Amino acid sequence: MRIDIITIFPEMFDSVFNYSIIKRAKHKGLTNIYIHNLRDYSTDKHRKVDDYPYGGGAGMVMMIEPIFNCIQSLKKKNNYDEIIYLTPDGELFQQKMANYLSTLNNIVLLCGHYKGIDERVREHLITKEISIGNYVLSGGEIAAMVVTDAIVRLIPGVLGDETSALSDSFQDDLIAPPVYTRPAVFNGWAVPEILKSGNAKEIELWRHQQSIKRTLERRPELLKKREREE
Ligand code: ADE
Repeated sequence: MRIDIITIFPEMFDSVFNYSIIKRAKHKGLTNIYIHNLRDYSTDKHRKVDDYPYGGGAGMVMMIEPIFNCIQSLKKKNNYDEIIYLTPDGELFQQKMANYLSTLNNIVLLCGHYKGIDERVREHLITKEISIGNYVLSGGEIAAMVVTDAIVRLIPGVLGDETSALSDSFQDDLIAPPVYTRPAVFNGWAVPEILKSGNAKEIELWRHQQSIKRTLERRPELLKKREREE
């Protein structure tokens, strides 16, 4: 999978994408992530990418021209399944959308800033708008990192244990069950006996019960969603 990210802060991605699962996915050749500095596509001598809003008002607006130039140059070389704009008024990013995006070959993630981007970008160049939550970040970069992380780990072969992405919380609208490792007793706090029993069937049942219990206690709306969909 190829992910192209358009940003005015390319350096922000350096550390996040060079650790852990994303690093491993890149090394295995399972994903290629390219960061593009939007300023490189500005025709202005000061590499300007924003301007005052028509009609007045506070804040600057990102201009269409550099964004258009950047997307056009990418489109000349690749076919994109989705061109995504990260914005707080987009569709809420959830596991289902991560699953869908992880099946695609090429996507673009456009990070916004300031008061937003010229509406014509959204009307004519963007195919999907994503919000990572009902709060406003100072830019789309952190949202693009969240989306990238959530989808890259789902690409087959990225995680060592193929089943571990499937057993994540939210994959079936259930919270994952608790997990334990050695020592069996720490500070008088013991690991549940059942997990040491060696009885795979009983353990699976216990884990499922724990998932339901946790979801009921912490995220009851997920169970209601499950019921509606069944
Ligand atoms: N840009 C600013 N806030 C955002 C959010 N909540 N989700 C996605 N992109 C954003």
